[in-house]
Amino acid sequence: MEQIANLRKVRNDITRFMMTYKFALDELETKVEILIKEFQLLHDYNPIEHTKSRIKTPESILRKLKRKGVEVSLSSIKKHVKDIAGMRIICSFRSDIYRLGHMLQKHKDLTVLEVQDYIKNPKPNGYQSLHLLVEVPVYMSDREERVCAEIQIRTIAMDFWASLEHKIYYKYKKDVPPYLLEELKAAADSVTALDQKMEWLHNEISNTKDVSEEEEEGLYKLTINDQQIYLPTALRELFTNHR
Ligand code: GTP
Ligand code: MG
Repeated sequence: MEQIANLRKVRNDITRFMMTYKFALDELETKVEILIKEFQLLHDYNPIEHTKSRIKTPESILRKLKRKGVEVSLSSIKKHVKDIAGMRIICSFRSDIYRLGHMLQKHKDLTVLEVQDYIKNPKPNGYQSLHLLVEVPVYMSDREERVCAEIQIRTIAMDFWASLEHKIYYKYKKDVPPYLLEELKAAADSVTALDQKMEWLHNEISNTKDVSEEEEEGLYKLTINDQQIYLPTALRELFTNHR
């Protein structure tokens, strides 16, 4: 009977523990969503292609504990496994990655514990991404907890490369033949070149854009809570006088 009670307690403890990571991820998603929406409204442009969140599986958490040779306990997991909550943000351009990285670092609700810039300093295999390790406050009925989450920010091209590299790495059980490693490194260089070219093209068209009548009309159109509102003429005058 005592054993059952113990088992129940352990189960509840684990559930509560994992739940905090899910809440942290939910909070992070909301914060990023707000940044995206605000950015879209202010700049009429969306710097983010998409986002993806995941919670690390218990198997993967245990593997990491073993690899690090540390104790198997909830406190040890909290201390040693910092990427249980993970969010990946895919941007269009390299400059968006840094812009977003700065926005998150300035966020009053987040504590940035670590920044790893694998874009300025790619890994030897060619891996590129900006990694932020952050602490998110999670408010529960009886306590506040600061929960760690890993945010990876990269371009579409960097993400394409990382997914394929990951597949190859696992297919060869981490023992990738040298010729493939070389090809992957060459592909990573192509990723850098493509990202640079796309950003140049993007800047080129943004700098030379003419404002058409249609676009000017669009300036008087606001989107508030997903509803489109036109500024009435009186307000338009106020708006123009203000400029
Ligand atoms: P741990 O987080 O403790 O494993 O070590 P670390 O902090 O040195 O890891 P790092 O920050 O380098 O990587 C964390 C995550 O980034 C990984 O779980 C992957 O999702 C991603 N990552 C890092 N390096 C690579 C790589 O070479 N290829 C791919 N595809 N992903 C990588
Ligand atoms: Mg890490």
